[in-house]
Amino acid sequence: MSMSRMAALFVAAAAVAFSAAPAAAAPLAVEFAGAELPRNQTVVLPVAEGGLAGSAAAINAAGQGALEQAMQAAGFKGKAGEVLPLYGVAGYRSLLLVGVGKDALTRVALEDYGARAATKATGTDAVHVVVPEGTDAEAPAHIANGAALGSYGFDKYRSGTAKPARKLVVHAANPQDAEQRYKQSWQPLAESVAFARDLVNEPGNALWPEEFVQRTRDAFRGVSNVTVEALDVPAMEKLGMGALLGVGQGSKRPPRLLVVHYRGAGANDAPVVFAGKGITFDSGGISLKPGSGMEQMKYDMTGAATATATVLNLAKRGAKVNAVAIAALAENMPGGGAIRPGDVLKTMSGKTIEVISTDAEGRLVLSDAVTYAQVRFKPRLLVDVATLTGAVRTALGDDYAGLFSRHDAVAQQVLDAGHKTGEEVWRLPLHPDYANGITSDIADIKGSASGRAYAGAGIGAQVIGSFIAPETPWAHLDIASVAWLDAAQPTKPRGATAFGIRLLDQLVRDHYEAR
Ligand code: BES
Ligand code: ZN
Ligand code: MN
Repeated sequence: MSMSRMAALFVAAAAVAFSAAPAAAAPLAVEFAGAELPRNQTVVLPVAEGGLAGSAAAINAAGQGALEQAMQAAGFKGKAGEVLPLYGVAGYRSLLLVGVGKDALTRVALEDYGARAATKATGTDAVHVVVPEGTDAEAPAHIANGAALGSYGFDKYRSGTAKPARKLVVHAANPQDAEQRYKQSWQPLAESVAFARDLVNEPGNALWPEEFVQRTRDAFRGVSNVTVEALDVPAMEKLGMGALLGVGQGSKRPPRLLVVHYRGAGANDAPVVFAGKGITFDSGGISLKPGSGMEQMKYDMTGAATATATVLNLAKRGAKVNAVAIAALAENMPGGGAIRPGDVLKTMSGKTIEVISTDAEGRLVLSDAVTYAQVRFKPRLLVDVATLTGAVRTALGDDYAGLFSRHDAVAQQVLDAGHKTGEEVWRLPLHPDYANGITSDIADIKGSASGRAYAGAGIGAQVIGSFIAPETPWAHLDIASVAWLDAAQPTKPRGATAFGIRLLDQLVRDHYEAR
């Protein structure tokens, strides 16, 4: 090769390295202000179906009915989600009408309104948002929270697209009160969701078990009453975690068990424990997945991100609860050391598992994580969160996560929290007969059914459930259906949703947090 050709190659390689340098997007700055609206920036006006009210009505009157005329001409009715940009109307440089429908404005509706205000407004770098009529003192904070969640983006790997920082101002009757509510109670949630989405969006070559641990340590730096520990391979060997270790052994990047412990209540109060599946890339292992769509399997660590970020949120907002995140971190690869179909693994519980498919790895890593959770923490409540099965997607689409529990009261709490936060879950059965599909000739159980199996999500839940003591209040969330979106929703951009943080936050607020 000629010297100049070599030099050209070197320059090309250097350019690739350079353009991959992170240039993280600045998050949306959120502020609160009083009633006065600026005329030279974008003003977002809520419009309910059936007539103008509040600021929109006042601006319409001041402009001799200009808003109503524009709405009529455009066929804008105020249905939830409808938007209409207007320029130079009624003395305002830029107005954005956002429909809020005709129903009472719930938290989810307010968040969606805030998200639309932040994402649909164009033209100016500051967006001024009017709070809908007839809402309570928490409404401005919900709007701000929705705006923060909806404006999330992940563009660190794009070169030359640094977007200007944007500012969102919520105009509230009592801005000091609104700001205090937001900062204390909701901003930590939006920040924690962004932390988790960043982890999930990272490709497999940028995020592996030890890197996940490192980023978690960075995120918790300076947060009070928290300890972050990571069990390495020798530590897990000592505890006999043969299932988690088995999944990790096909990769050059060793597995970890990450434990984040937040103490926000009495020393003797049992904690709430969230255990997450953290497969930083799921190739399927020796039971290799088909190539098409495999790139999506970087999101197979969403459960771990959700569990960790849930505790980050609780710690940052100073929730009066003890809470633990346990992230079962491994990369599922078909390296020379990989486990094979037919292998028998011994779990920390002592139970043995015959591996049928190495692609059913989530339940393997979680079996050791939930055993560790129960032995060490004796949890008040144990929730495991996992992108566990393709079957739950087939059953529920991307509208619901699958919920499994043997405890009706716990199931109801989770269903309610899901509904309140817009992170909807649908309960699916744990029929005792699912155990029949996973009896093994050689070990205590099989990791998955042999051949064509039905009720795949239920069988996955059944395997995890066989490591849960009957007295442990437990719920399993199969989030494979909702962890990644191909089409954006108002507060969930395309890509990583980090589903479950809002739901689990609400669950704690309603049932596990001291007042
Ligand atoms: N990570 C996958 C499940 C998954 C599929 C998540 C699609 C998100 C989108 C999981 O590890 C897996 O491969 N499950 C198998 C289980 C089977 C081998 C019993 C599946 O669902 O096919
Ligand atoms: Zn997986
Ligand atoms: Mn798999």
